[in-house]
Amino acid sequence: MMKLLESATIGKMELKNRVIMEPMCMYSATDHDGIPTHFHRAHYTSRAIGQVGLIIVEATGVVPEGRITDDCLGLWNDKQMTAFKDLVESVHSQGSKIAIQLNHAGRKCTAVDGVDEIFAPSAIAYNEDYRKPTELSKDQIKEVVQAFQDAAKRANEAGFDALEIHAAHGYLLSEFMSPVSNQRTDEYADASIIIKEVIDAIRVVWPSEKPILIRVSATDYEDQGLNTDLTIKILEPIKDSVDIINVSTGGITPTPPHQIFPGYQVEHALKIKDALQMPVVACGLLGSHDLASYLLESNQVDFIGLARPLLKNPHWVVDFAKARRKSEFIPRQYERGFK
Ligand SMILES: Cc1cc2nc3c(=O)[nH]c(=O)nc-3n(C[C@H](O)[C@H](O)[C@H](O)COP(=O)(O)O)c2cc1C
Repeated sequence: MMKLLESATIGKMELKNRVIMEPMCMYSATDHDGIPTHFHRAHYTSRAIGQVGLIIVEATGVVPEGRITDDCLGLWNDKQMTAFKDLVESVHSQGSKIAIQLNHAGRKCTAVDGVDEIFAPSAIAYNEDYRKPTELSKDQIKEVVQAFQDAAKRANEAGFDALEIHAAHGYLLSEFMSPVSNQRTDEYADASIIIKEVIDAIRVVWPSEKPILIRVSATDYEDQGLNTDLTIKILEPIKDSVDIINVSTGGITPTPPHQIFPGYQVEHALKIKDALQMPVVACGLLGSHDLASYLLESNQVDFIGLARPLLKNPHWVVDFAKARRKSEFIPRQYERGFK
């Protein structure tokens, strides 16, 4: 059997295979209410029909100013929760597991509807086109932690199987991790502190059998920025509180990766896996079936994360199975399309 198609577990959650749909903002909550729409339901359910093992719903704000844009999803009220319930049921009906990525957008929030002020570890703007954030006071940090807890409670009520804490791509928790954006002199200069507070608060309301993923940007691609060694240092004290690390890069500044090629982020995933002895999700141009298979078979990574490849082809997993004559993975209704 091929590892890519084999069942696997994250914590106590069983997945039918090792393919994960990475979170991707769809900017489609166009009423600015953070509520998932028919589009979201169809979009995520299509990938479930496409046999993706775990689907991670796009960055979802824990407060209005936690959204990246006005059109992003949110989970700070029960109306949103009820709509997510429907989405979760739809994905479950097609046999996939579903997680939600909880986010606070920090200084990269561009939402304006109901958002007068944006927040960050330090009062440093992302660039001249962005608003200057207010430095979070300790009391405001407590409120952020509480917002993550409240959203996690709702995520559980909505039926999500897993939850991902977004600490990547230059949003609030990622901003705490990077020396570029965190110039605090109090205890929160150490990003482990707020991340641990968030995870501990979530664990109070999140069932112990449901896993928690954390997504990090291992490097900023900046000389004075976050690098993989510092990322490992930050994750060390919290690694026992999470089940897996989803390894990405960049986003703290507009600086792009030095080089972009298939698997360009895998080296960071490998280093983190090795140093922390934790399972990892790798992603970043892994759309080649052969490359994805190689990374799994050689035990370099534990799960394959796909974003753009699944936008282009919701049937990426089915195509993989078909090419390897594993026709039992073709959805019954679609068999004739794969003859
Ligand atoms: C349209 C789009 C939206 C994205 N939104 C998110 C997001 O909400 N959260 C996140 O962690 N990453 C987000 N990403 C990054 C992807 O999850 C992924 O890390 C990146 O696209 C590289 O993987 P790929 O080469 O498979 O696309 C987004 C990417 C795209 C293309």
